[in-house]
Amino acid sequence: MKLLVCGGAGFIGSNFVRVRLAGSGDEIVVLDKLTYAGRRENLKDFEGDRRFSFVHGAIEDPAAVARALEGCSAVVNFAAETHVDRSIIEPDAFVRTHALGTFVLLEAARERELRFVQVSTDEVYGSIEAGSFTESSPLDPSSPYSATKAGADLLVSSYRHTYGTETLICRGSNNYGPYQYPEKLIPLMILNALAGDRLPVYGDGLNVRNWLFVEDFANAIARVLEQGTSGEAYNVGGPDECPNIEVVRRVLELCGRDESLIEYVSDRPGHDRRYSLASEKVRALGWSAAMRFDVGIERTVQWYRDSRWWWEPIRTGAYREYYQRQYGLSLDPPAS
Ligand code: NAD
Ligand code: TYD
Repeated sequence: MKLLVCGGAGFIGSNFVRVRLAGSGDEIVVLDKLTYAGRRENLKDFEGDRRFSFVHGAIEDPAAVARALEGCSAVVNFAAETHVDRSIIEPDAFVRTHALGTFVLLEAARERELRFVQVSTDEVYGSIEAGSFTESSPLDPSSPYSATKAGADLLVSSYRHTYGTETLICRGSNNYGPYQYPEKLIPLMILNALAGDRLPVYGDGLNVRNWLFVEDFANAIARVLEQGTSGEAYNVGGPDECPNIEVVRRVLELCGRDESLIEYVSDRPGHDRRYSLASEKVRALGWSAAMRFDVGIERTVQWYRDSRWWWEPIRTGAYREYYQRQYGLSLDPPAS
């Protein structure tokens, strides 16, 4: 099949392309706006592959979407603004990409009768103190990021209900692994630990996330694309949950640093305490997570150790400014 992968130059999208080119006969077109988080470097392994092509453009641009969709029979939409902290400071792009962008893609899928997979998040259900959300739990998002993602999910479902478009939704828990932009917890902590910079922990460090290795999520999305029932949503939760402070301590250990680098900083406004998903529906399609957190985190630290070429250009100019504004900390090792 020829597949359009929107947002394929980002973290999960590029891992999905890698999994798909290796494990299927698919031809893949990536459509990506190349925001700060979208990088051609993430796709460099496939440049020159006859089955891969790239279109630079936004999902909210109908002309770019039409160009990218030529000959495609399905769409997987990863394109999004994805950082909760940025959504608190500047929500505009979140509304544009998630609401308008998803609408433009859905219109294109409807006109051409394409199968459409929307990649979504556990955050649309909001926070849960105990137990897990199922696909029929009410959507109760807390941040501009999760609220606009929830809005996109509802629009996707409406296209199935109203027009009969073949739609599917995959809601993943927190992903980690190679090629994740270092604004998210795990890569940020790894790079700071490697450099000897402070590790900023929000609040009491006891917020809990459910960690899913990125290849496992990519495989779940592939399964839903191939075998999922149109009109359904599928939760994809990771095998292990962990309070943030334990993740940070493990990263420090793997990087050979001690806990004096931990710096407790002001909490994120509206910070969700815990996310948790029940994933029976996707398991019934034959999927299960292959990577436990203790092994996945070691592999991830090793990848960042080995991939200075990837992260060194990021940790300069605009990133340092973002960091200073966000944390009130500089990226220089603390004075001893
Ligand atoms: P990312 O920020 O690494 O990548 C997003 C990609 O989308 C980038 O390549 C960016 O350039 C592109 N993009 C942004 N706006 C665009 C637009 N208007 N048009 C075209 N391209 C655009 O994000 P990620 O972590 O890879 O997340 C991918 C998807 O998975 C998102 O929809 C996100 O909500 C969802 N998700 C993420 C996680 C996670 O832990 N990272 C967990 C569950 C679900
Ligand atoms: P993040 O990676 O931003 O994902 P999300 O908020 O979408 O779950 O954050 C994961 C957790 O780590 C979340 O509870 C916030 C916390 N966190 C910190 O304590 N310090 C940080 O510098 C960052 C980026 C996150």
